[in-house]
Amino acid sequence: MIDLHSHILPNIDDGSRSMANTIALAQHSVDVGVTHMMCTPHWHLGRYDNHKHDVQSVFAETVAQLKANAVPLKLALSAEIRMCTEIIQWAQQASLPLIGHWQGKPAFLLEMSHSHIPAGIENLLLWLKQHRIQAIIVHPERNRDIMKQPSKIKRLYDAGAIFQGTAGSFTHTFKSEVQDVAWELLDAGYFAYVASDMHDLERRYNQMAECRALITERVDAATAQALTLTVPQTITQSINWE
Ligand SMILES: [Fe+2]
Repeated sequence: MIDLHSHILPNIDDGSRSMANTIALAQHSVDVGVTHMMCTPHWHLGRYDNHKHDVQSVFAETVAQLKANAVPLKLALSAEIRMCTEIIQWAQQASLPLIGHWQGKPAFLLEMSHSHIPAGIENLLLWLKQHRIQAIIVHPERNRDIMKQPSKIKRLYDAGAIFQGTAGSFTHTFKSEVQDVAWELLDAGYFAYVASDMHDLERRYNQMAECRALITERVDAATAQALTLTVPQTITQSINWE
């Protein structure tokens, strides 16, 4: 499987707490069947100011440590970008951290606040669409506005967004309302792919294998394969894994 959302890099957000923890998280991901992982630390102005150049050295050290410890997990560096107006400026400067391409367009992870659909997001999405940049909204199933009224996701889709589901939303990590909405959005065909959004080994561990098994059981094996491997593979064709 190819995992396009993780907080595996140490000491830069609310994910891994140390390099030892990072190595354990990497080995755990390999054990559940992940071969490639995008490192996507929070990029959240004022809270986690993890601009790509700032975390490059942590990324390089992580790659070296996985090699030294013979953990066969390939990594690449991107980010999970919290919705803000600066995104337009970063896009104009070509400094948005990408996770690859979607239908020929550069693609990045966009995070909404959990409480609501942020004001102005449709205008941002329309601007990105006009400029042929693909926003991938992560875990819409955990957004309270969408949980209350899942049909609200259509406005975001119509404005040009595609969506990533979080593996733990389909299993048992979050409350049952999240689980219900995750399956509803999956059944409606909204998810381009699923990813772990792994943070730790306790609660938010790598649940891609569990999620894949559940999708196989509830939908079919081809859908599970597309969401956890084939689509992420297509998105990351331009990525140099290290
Ligand atoms: Fe995340």
